[in-house]
Amino acid sequence: MGIYVLGIAGASGAPYARRVLEQMLMAGHVVKAVITDAGRKVLAVEEGLVLTGNTEADRPALIEWAEASDAPGTFELFHHKDVAAPIASGSFAVDGMVVVPCSGGTLGRIAHGMSNGLLERAADVCLKERRRLVLVPREMPLSLIHLRNMTAVTEAGAIVLPASPGFYHNPESIDDLVDMVAGRILASLGIDSRLMKPWLGPEPPSYSGPASPDPASPDEEGIH
Ligand SMILES: Cc1cc2nc3c(=O)[nH]c(=O)nc-3n(C[C@H](O)[C@H](O)[C@H](O)COP(=O)(O)O)c2cc1C
Repeated sequence: MGIYVLGIAGASGAPYARRVLEQMLMAGHVVKAVITDAGRKVLAVEEGLVLTGNTEADRPALIEWAEASDAPGTFELFHHKDVAAPIASGSFAVDGMVVVPCSGGTLGRIAHGMSNGLLERAADVCLKERRRLVLVPREMPLSLIHLRNMTAVTEAGAIVLPASPGFYHNPESIDDLVDMVAGRILASLGIDSRLMKPWLGPEPPSYSGPASPDPASPDEEGIH
């Protein structure tokens, strides 16, 4: 099983983080999580999940939030200011990291190597060690600064995976939209999940009997 870092920054999109955490733990992976102060605010606003900043107290609350109490995976939570945590060092090997959601501020600090806490430091480590780093920004519209920062992290080896679900799977619920983004995140980290539904082309139209001949159609003129 793999070891993955889950960073949650203060952008909108907490449900994506919930689904990714649940899937990682259900698949039996080890998850090392870090949440910025703004990330905690957004979790409270969007998910009603009020965290204290005390990692011992917040850890079970996060597992319950992800509905992963019975999951075989292991979950560890670090404080954003705990820059002495193992994930702050390249000597501690991890299989990859995702920042979901990723704020413009966190994106900018990662792009410029200006770590202000554990989340950015862990991302910095992934880049320098050439490990998989997936950033999931959520912003609209994008400024030139956002775009340049996305270019910089891409040049440094990260994957920018915007939180923008497609509609070609005909989603019927918000959960379907969340799952589409979460599935792509997991696939980008090399984690198999049933959330990832490959596009196999449009459904063939149902057969409703022979079409009535169109006198003007090319077939009538023998062209096939
Ligand atoms: C409810 C809420 C939603 C927010 N949504 C976004 C967002 O979608 N994208 C973004 O870049 N910042 C968003 N912000 C602003 C960031 O939280 C803010 O810039 C913060 O300083 C980012 O800090 P961090 O990068 O340390 O997490 C939001 C803030 C709040 C309170």
